[in-house]
Formats: sequence, structure tokens, C-alpha cells
Amino acid sequence: MPKHKTGLHFVFVILFILTTKFYLIPSEDQNKPVGASTDKRYPRYDSLYIRLCNDSLPQLGYKINKTQPVLYIVTPTFARREQVAELTRLAQTLLHVRNIIWFVIEDATVCSPMVSQFLVRHQMPYIHMVAPLPEVFIGEGQKPRGVSQRNAAIQWIMTHSDFPEGVLYFADDDNTYDLRLFDEIRKTKKISMFPVGLVAGKAHSSPVVKDGRVVGFSDPWMANRKFPMDMAGFAVNIRMLKYDPNKVAMPFINGHQEDRFLKGLDFTWEDIEVLAEGCTKVWVWHTTTVEKEVLPFRFEETDTNLQHLFQELEFTGLIKTSDDAPPLPQCKTDENACK
Ligand code: UGA
Ligand code: MN
Repeated sequence: MPKHKTGLHFVFVILFILTTKFYLIPSEDQNKPVGASTDKRYPRYDSLYIRLCNDSLPQLGYKINKTQPVLYIVTPTFARREQVAELTRLAQTLLHVRNIIWFVIEDATVCSPMVSQFLVRHQMPYIHMVAPLPEVFIGEGQKPRGVSQRNAAIQWIMTHSDFPEGVLYFADDDNTYDLRLFDEIRKTKKISMFPVGLVAGKAHSSPVVKDGRVVGFSDPWMANRKFPMDMAGFAVNIRMLKYDPNKVAMPFINGHQEDRFLKGLDFTWEDIEVLAEGCTKVWVWHTTTVEKEVLPFRFEETDTNLQHLFQELEFTGLIKTSDDAPPLPQCKTDENACK
């Protein structure tokens, strides 16, 4: 190839790279990140892995009444032995609540068939997604739980402006909810708060209220937070997310997710709407289930119900099987019964 032609190619390649860099790939400013920062704790929404598994909105859209606020209930969940029990408790509470969209978002890269079937069976308006914790946080001490999932739901709400007005509530899968809570949070105009029971091994977390206004907080762990509240202790009208999307972010910071999220939305104490009879009632409890290690066992064929029961236990995550593990005793009390 003649020398001057190689030179021309070189110029074109440089021009192409510059063009691509400045026009085709959005720069930081053109496509603002979650919380408008390059901090890995506030990653850009487009850097999170978020996938829709399924939703029931086309079939069940009629269950949503656009003339009254919809509750956007966001539940992070992850596979462990207690999952199916906790999801059952929550789903069967939410079945009593009208006008909700339930976001069930797994900390996983692949949609769980168990969760999929569970949601289909419950016949309620739901959106099932996966949004795993980014790898960068794995092995970094206590991992920030449920954060990717909450950001996935926030992003969904912000990008679906055709959906009705309503109220966002973060409902972890292991808490316990009184039905009175849901009618109460539906009133939220901007930001509302209410007591949570059983927080951090203590009795409660609550705003301190005087003459109908928040004058402080009563929480086992203040940590210099402006809003020392548990995730289950506040609700936000989704209009508040839409004023400035660049400020809406749940950061990957243990123990500070709630506070940073609320500060990001520029709320002040004066904005807080006091619910649950002036913060005198507990209508949600931060119950936790002690996780126990699941030891694998070897599956042995049997002609009893245990054949199918064990398959069900494996499908719902209560047991694991492995050919190298010891067999699970199939009958402990009466040897003859299992023959
Ligand atoms: C407290 C808060 O109530 C949580 O909202 C907050 O995410 C968490 O602390 C934190 O700061 O990390 P806690 O009861 O200690 O909650 O946490 P979990 O109940 O274990 O997890 C919160 C949510 O994330 C649950 O819905 C759970 O299913 C989900 N989770 C938990 C995951 O998605 N992945 C996990 O590895 C663990
Ligand atoms: Mn919990």
C-alpha cells in the first residue's frame, strides 16, 4: 500500500475513534448515573444488570384503579431455605390489599422457576425481575442487601410515566405487615413515616413527634443520620422521584441506604407526614428469620409420598441434594412403615 494511503487510513481511524467517543457513547454528563456520581456505591442505572422475568399487568391490568393512588410495593428477595415461607406470608397479606403493583425482584442473574410459578399462582398484579448485587461488592464484608433490586424498581417507576400516580413502599420479604399499614401509606403526599417494631434486636424505630411534627427520631442506631429510620418505616409518593431523576438513588452502603435515599430527594423533617395515629401504633415489624445452613443429602428412590415431597422440598429450596452426601433418613420412627 502506498505510504500516503496508510497515513490517510490512520487519520480516518483517529477521526472515527474521536467521533465514537464524543457522539456515540454517551458521556457521564449526557447520561447521568444513579445519584449523579461515578462512585461505585452510586452506579449508573445502565451499569446494573436488570432483567424482566415476567409481569401480570396485561392480564390483570383491570385490577388497577387509576382514580386512586396505586401502591408500588417493592420486595427484594433471594434464594435460601426460608424464601418460600416468607414469600407466602407476604403474598397472602398483599392479597388483601387493593390497588397494588407488587415488584418481586430477585438477587440473581436468572429468574427462579419457583418464584415464577409462585407469582402466577397468586394472581395479583406483579412485576418479576432479577437484579443481582454487582460483583464488585461480593466478598466486601457485609454485603448491601436488596439495593440492586430497589434501584431496579425505582428505575422502572421513573421510566413508566404512563402508570398511575401512587406511593412507593419498600417491603422486605421477611418483615410482618398489618393490613392497616397499606391504607395508611396510600395517603402519602410527599414522604410519610411511621414506627417499625423489632428493629436491630430492640423494640422499635420511630420518628419522635410533637404537635403533629417530627422533632427527632428514636432508633437503636442513630449513626449521625438525618433520617435514622428502618427501610420499612417510610413511604414516598412517586411524584417525588420524577422531579429530578438524577437525585434518585439507593446507594450500596450498608446501614445508610434509607438515609441517603431520602436525603437524595431533598426531604426535610418538615416534609414528613406522620402516620399510624401520630406514630403511636406499630403496623410493621422487622422480623428476621435465623438462617440455618442447608446440608446436602443423597436422594434415594422410594415408592412413598417422600419421593414427591422431597422433589417439592428441593424445588422450593428447603433441601439440596448431592450424590456424594449421606442419605436423608426416610423413616426414623417405624422401620416397617417405609418398607
Ligand atoms: C435491614 C434493612 O431493613 C434492609 O432494608 C436493608 O437492605 C438491610 O438492613 C441492609 O442495610 O443491608 P435486614 O433484615 O438486616 O434489613 O436485611 P435482610 O432482611 O437480610 O435483607 C433485606 C432484603 O434484601 C430482604 O428482602 C432480602 O430478601 C433481600 N436480600 C437479602 C437479598 O436480596 N440478597 C441477600 O443476599 C440478602
Ligand atoms: Mn430483614
